[in-house]
Amino acid sequence: MVIRSLRSTARKALVFAAAGALAASGAVALAGTADAASTLGAAAAARGRYFGAAVSSGHLGEAQYTNTWVTEFNGVTPENEMKWDTIEPNRNQFNFAPADQITTQARSRSMTIRGHTLVWHSQLAGWVSGLDATNLQTAMTNHINGVMGHWKGQIYAWDVVNEAFEENGTRRQSVFQQKLGNGYIEQAFRTARAADPNAKLCYNDYNTDGQNAKSNAVFAMVQDFKSRGVPIDCVGFQSHFNSASPVPSDYQANLQRFANLGVDVQITELDIEGSGTTQASNYTRVVNACLAVSRCTGITVWGIPDKYSWRASGTPLLFDSNYGKKPAYTAVLNALGGSSDPPPDNPPPDNPPPAGGACAATVTTNQWQDGFVGTVRVTAGTGQVNGWTVTITLPAGATITSGWNANRSGNTGTVQFTNVGFNGAVAPGQSVEFGYQGTGTGSDVTPSCAAS
Ligand code: G3I
Repeated sequence: MVIRSLRSTARKALVFAAAGALAASGAVALAGTADAASTLGAAAAARGRYFGAAVSSGHLGEAQYTNTWVTEFNGVTPENEMKWDTIEPNRNQFNFAPADQITTQARSRSMTIRGHTLVWHSQLAGWVSGLDATNLQTAMTNHINGVMGHWKGQIYAWDVVNEAFEENGTRRQSVFQQKLGNGYIEQAFRTARAADPNAKLCYNDYNTDGQNAKSNAVFAMVQDFKSRGVPIDCVGFQSHFNSASPVPSDYQANLQRFANLGVDVQITELDIEGSGTTQASNYTRVVNACLAVSRCTGITVWGIPDKYSWRASGTPLLFDSNYGKKPAYTAVLNALGGSSDPPPDNPPPDNPPPAGGACAATVTTNQWQDGFVGTVRVTAGTGQVNGWTVTITLPAGATITSGWNANRSGNTGTVQFTNVGFNGAVAPGQSVEFGYQGTGTGSDVTPSCAAS
């Protein structure tokens, strides 16, 4: 067993204090090489969540942009590339290339991908608004099937319907509403479920971040869908804030009331205008609210550097226009339990990785009175590992109740964990992580690792 430094262990104990069963949902993609707490994505992953950014394919050629994205984030939403006017500009002619530029990179790094968006009144291709009801119905179904089918099995969550309500809680008079009537949202969700049964299906909107007429209308719709078995898995809260529209005082309570309906909640387009400590403390409030709601599975900020924000003059993002980390960045990282301190040696110099194709495993356990979270790091030796099995013997009385990023043979005694699809391949000297949560006392375990 590799002995970890005390500094690292202490930090991890803090980081993993609230890691929970949500990570078992598959939402989390761990950055294989980053220290668990030194980037936004790794710190969020340690809390069982993703931390994503809206990315624009037009900026990918800028090295600092792409480097910042892939280093700091473990999730992505294409900012405009999946919208109807780009992806189906002419009827039944699909243009997937711009979005593929983003999703291909994201998949190679096991990022969590959000699909945005299938049915929206804005950025709609011109040909759609001229259709009669029958043709519009067919076109909407065909669009959902075509777009979701292209990335079937690859998208964590889709914004199936976006911004369908007015501020007063009535339905927005979009072409879909006017020609298809109230049932179009339900039809879209039913079509989406059939198109990709593994994707989480979200309703997404803005100004729904506190309790108000609009969020109440969305709440009533979700409640109705759940009671009638209409497939809906999540609600996205865009969370665009500024001084005229600040983070509401009941932000967390509002997330929680939706979660209590039996859906996940996600912060989907976060940006907060401002600067310095005021901006930083507002970001902290949002992150803390998500961490306090167990069904809040992830946060996406709506852009990377301020200069590319849709409202750049309000400097609402975590990186300045030169990619410098703003106070808001540090606040978010700290709120997630991360730290900008230099990462600890991993593995320590006196414990070099094993030779050949072998692997090593270390466990960091956060133990509380009657439960624990174990985080296991699998490190490849000097050769490539293409699959791994970690064996851990739990103390008597310890029972695993959930886990993430590994398959598991049982819940008590000697338990074998094997890689899942995305984390079996580990390059020489690199690491991946998985975890488990349980009841009883789970500390003082000695893992062994076998590579295949
Ligand atoms: O690509 C063209 C470029 O060729 C042209 O020269 C330029 C001239 O204006 O326009 C470019 O397209 C712009 C596009 O962003 C890409 O930059 C559009 O004009 C502009 O309208 C579009 O804005 C997007 C906006 O949605 C449209 O509603 C923003 O990038 C995007 O961040 C924003 O995202 C929305 C979410 O989808 C839904 N929630 C609100 C959020 C913010 O508005």
